[in-house]
Order: sequence, then C-alpha cells, then structure tokens
Amino acid sequence: MSSRQLPVLGYDHVELWVGNAKQAAHYYRSAFGFQLVAYAGPETGMTDRASYVLEQADIRLVVTAGLHADSEIVAHHARHGDGVRDVAFRVPDAAEALDLAVRRGAEMVREPRVLADGHGKVTVATIAAHGDTVHSLVEREDYPGAHLPGYRDCDDDPVPPPVGLRSIDHVVSNVHLGDMEPWTAFYERVLGFSQLRHFSDEDIATADTSLSSKVVADDVGRVKLPINEPGQGAKRSQIEEFLDAYRGPGVQHLALETPDIISTVRTMRARGVAFLDVPAEYYEQARERVGEVGESWNDLAELGILVDRDEEGYLLQVFTEPVQDRPTLFYEIIQRHGATGFGLGNFRALFEAIERAQHRRGNL
Ligand code: FE2
Repeated sequence: MSSRQLPVLGYDHVELWVGNAKQAAHYYRSAFGFQLVAYAGPETGMTDRASYVLEQADIRLVVTAGLHADSEIVAHHARHGDGVRDVAFRVPDAAEALDLAVRRGAEMVREPRVLADGHGKVTVATIAAHGDTVHSLVEREDYPGAHLPGYRDCDDDPVPPPVGLRSIDHVVSNVHLGDMEPWTAFYERVLGFSQLRHFSDEDIATADTSLSSKVVADDVGRVKLPINEPGQGAKRSQIEEFLDAYRGPGVQHLALETPDIISTVRTMRARGVAFLDVPAEYYEQARERVGEVGESWNDLAELGILVDRDEEGYLLQVFTEPVQDRPTLFYEIIQRHGATGFGLGNFRALFEAIERAQHRRGNL
C-alpha cells in the first residue's frame, strides 16, 4: 500500500435507494440468491425508512426506501428511480480517513458518527462522489451484529438458496462527457488509487455510438472502479441514455464474481433474471478470438455468456437487463480465469446487443 493511499480495506457494502424496499429485497433474494440478514425500520426505532440487508458470501447489499414525503430518500427516488446511493468502503479508522479525504479535496456529506448498541459500535463517515452518489467510510471494531447498530438480525431466510455469487469484482459509474478525467483524478488524489487502463472511444465503438472508460483501483485490486463517459457517436449512446434516465451521473453496473458462472447464470435464468441477448454469430468469432477455454462452448452459447482473453488469461461475463423500470442500473456476472481486464474484446459485441435493446425502447 502506497503512503498516498487512503487505507481502504475493501467494499463494506453497497446501498441502493429504491421505491419499495420490501419488494426489491424479495427480488434480490428470490432471483439473485441473497439472504436477508438484517432489517431496520419503524419496528427497530428507525422511523423514516425501511432498510433490508442482503448477503451472499462476501457481498453485502442494502436496499432502503423512505417512508415520508419529505424524506431525502424519497426525493432521491423521485429524481433517479431505484439506484445506488452509497458505495461504502471498509476503513481501519473512519475519522482519520475522512480527515485525510477532506484535506485532499473531498466534500464531506456526514461527519463521523459512532453508532452503538448492546453488541458494540461502528463508526461511519461519508464523502460525496459524482452526482448524488456517496462513499461511506465504515470502521468496524469487531461488531458482531449483522450490519449496523439500529438493525435487527434476521435468521433463516426461507427464500431459495444462494446462486454462487461470491464478491464484488468492480463497480462502474457513468458521468457526463468531459467528467471522466476529473473523476479519475478525484479517486487518484483523494483515495490514492491508480489508473489501471484507458479505453478510448475508438476502442469502444459501434457503427452508431461510442464511449470512453478509465479504471481506477486500489494498490491490491480489491476495489476497481471503471468510469465511463459518452463518446461523440452519430447517435445517442447507452451512456447518454443512462444519464438522461437517471437524471445525472451514477452507478451503471455492479459486477459480481462467481467461481462457476455456468451454474450461477443457469440458476439465475431459471429464477427469471433477464440477460442481454447475444447473437449466435458472436460465438463463431469468439472461439477464434479467445481460443481454448475450460467451459463447454455449447453451455456458454446456451446461456449467452461472453468470453474474452488478455495477456494473463481469460474471463467469462454476462450482463443483465436493467433491474428496474428505468434503463439505468444493471448487473454483470463475471468469472475470471487469470484475466485482469474488463472484457474489452466484448465491448463491441455487448454494445451492439445493448443498442438493439435501445432500438426496442425507441431511444436510438
Ligand atoms: Fe463491468
């Protein structure tokens, strides 16, 4: 860890602000295989919100809805629809991390708060990211509860079992044209992250649209944050569609890692999760482009799983349709066999598939 890097131990959780947390939580449980581990709401003394904590291996999602018309959560939902509010990082010392971040130019959203109950305490501070997105800095001192003080633990969730998702691989944001550089610089300056790679809009282009993407990551690659901005294509790109539908910048997708993508995706499909279509021709080209892989090409084609190779190995990935009514947040399921990239070779094939969906919505 470089001396410049803010001590970030990894993701703590990702919180979504949604219109109906009870139903969103049920979707993530029944379709994505998350288990309900904690709840906060009026019954636990949290009078302004309902908040469900969902876990699968190392992934923790929190889905929260506001209960009153004047709630900031309700206002956020009215503007953005369901979306990611907080990509929270685990830190060893929240007050120290906040102080360092603010001295490096971050905007403070909330001062460090010590949340305590009979089990112990957790300290949380929050800084602003792009748009209405924030990063909480969470310091846990062996807190034994399922999430935070104020939440009640829930045991023995009766919904279907996990689908094999294991960790958050990366979190991708979309920002306006011209904002990719400043936000990359923000993560370099404030968190001490470094830039992994840069895809120009020539790398990621179809006949109609393009985008640029830069990736910042911590020194050990636990936290990887690609940032996209729209390119100057002939037509309205999927990034612009997101920015319009979300009414500003925000988190475009969460990539969740599995050690067995065939089984994970087969199960998720059986539970009704919709993935992007992949044209059959993709697999003829992919076999030549990627070479030998350990999985069956028939399984990959049947499940619409994309394949890419870089210098270090290959990866398998697949993208869901947006998971709410607006064409905003979606999920990627990824399995890595050595490859450390993000599927550059798939971008064109993927974007062509996304653009077919845009056409169907009349947005291209
Ligand atoms: Fe991704």
